[in-house]
Amino acid sequence: METARIVVDKDFRVGEVDPRLYGAFVEHLGRAVYGGIYEPGHATADDLGFRRDVLDLVRELRVSLVRYPGGNFVSGYDWRDGVGEVERRPRRLDPAWMSTETNEVGTNEFAAWAKRAGAEVNLAVNLGTGGIDAARHLVEYCNHPTGSYWSDLRRAHGVADPHGIRVWCLGNEMDALWQLGHKTADEYGRLACQTAIAMKWVDPSIELVVCGSSHAVMPTFPDWEVTVLDHTYDYVDYVSLHTYARNLEDDLGSFLAQSLAMDDQIRTVVAACDLVRAKKRHKKVLSLSFDEWNVWYHSRERDRALLRERPWQVAPPLTEEVYTLEDALVVGCMLISLLKHANRVKIACIAQLVNAIAPISTVTGGGIWRQATFFPFLHASAFGRGVVLQPRITSPCYATKEFDAVPLLEAVATLDEEREHLTVFAVNRGQDGALALDGDLRGLPSYAVVEHIVLEHADPKATNTCERPARVAPHRRGDAGMRDGRLTALLPKLSWNVIRLARSGA
Ligand code: AHR
Repeated sequence: METARIVVDKDFRVGEVDPRLYGAFVEHLGRAVYGGIYEPGHATADDLGFRRDVLDLVRELRVSLVRYPGGNFVSGYDWRDGVGEVERRPRRLDPAWMSTETNEVGTNEFAAWAKRAGAEVNLAVNLGTGGIDAARHLVEYCNHPTGSYWSDLRRAHGVADPHGIRVWCLGNEMDALWQLGHKTADEYGRLACQTAIAMKWVDPSIELVVCGSSHAVMPTFPDWEVTVLDHTYDYVDYVSLHTYARNLEDDLGSFLAQSLAMDDQIRTVVAACDLVRAKKRHKKVLSLSFDEWNVWYHSRERDRALLRERPWQVAPPLTEEVYTLEDALVVGCMLISLLKHANRVKIACIAQLVNAIAPISTVTGGGIWRQATFFPFLHASAFGRGVVLQPRITSPCYATKEFDAVPLLEAVATLDEEREHLTVFAVNRGQDGALALDGDLRGLPSYAVVEHIVLEHADPKATNTCERPARVAPHRRGDAGMRDGRLTALLPKLSWNVIRLARSGA
């Protein structure tokens, strides 16, 4: 059996985990909203028409922040369509997803849902077809207490207290040709700058996320970031990153290595931010918002066919990925990547939350289940709190077309100093066998193993479905141990592992 070694020490601090690292995304896309979070006729619907079964699972995930309403959708969205009397709201064609938007759910409904989910709202404004006025009016509508046209309109719509939305996105993926109102970096940079100023004049307490590239293989990456930040650095607080891992050639080794590409992407965007900071002799250090990340490839062909055959449906079943154990391992590695960069990545949103590219799936009018990818997010969100400790890792490696050396072991640790809980998150990328983990934790000698949680399956392509909801589910192993500052554990092949330790007597 091969062995991987780690050294974990209190001094290997990366930074504090911002709770907003465990954010998610709900877009008006497919059945994310209608049939997902909202379904008034459903057996579990609450007084506002929200599915209670969905709310329960969202709360189980401890989702801290939810980005809304898009995504590509927002670039053609007029937020005024989604407020006021529901019966009078217009049905619109949504060109982003070739769907019909009924506008039954809009800003106020979503804010009410997020409150029930225990999550903060991260609202995106339309900088595709929209502009400065629509954006500043939306800030006034949401955040101004009273005594102005837009705030009084909100009150007239039955919402007396301001929503107090703190984090706002300045559009979505504006570098992309598929985006309605796509712009060059200079065009977008100027508009984002002017919009940011106007929005912060209305509410100086808000924080703004400016659009970075849609993904790291865009031809304009990372010049886009540098140019956009040249225009906006003074006025924004975060730059966005997006990535979706794919396994189009059924090459598992390469697929499992995709978090290394995510690491590179983060490092490059940090470099772009710091370059502009240096050019401007600025004191402010910009943070990153990885506001779309996930695995997404199973459903793309099916979606194209569906839209060709029946465009303009209301809430068509788009982007409904059925996730395998393999996908869950990639999600686990991506979570580790986010944690490893917790000093700069302050917000991250798994994209998305329900039905559309999601860890939670529902049947409209029916049941609900946890996808395989639910579990790594659940564990990271539950135990990945406090301070991130970057372990020194010595691991056997394998090579792929893209990467010369992919470590079999991917790992990170978090230390909750107050509760004296230490968690090691580890993925064994190995397809051939278990990996012996040999941990040097002499810097944390009085910690003992509480539990070792494992997600694995004899069939790496195993999935969960409504009929078989627990085929891929975590279980506990009993053989991890800690003795004289030495942690030993067995990481089964192709597995996600959570080794929880606590200070003895704590
Ligand atoms: O999350 C699905 C889509 O992926 C979003 O609408 C868009 O921003 C990205 O391309």
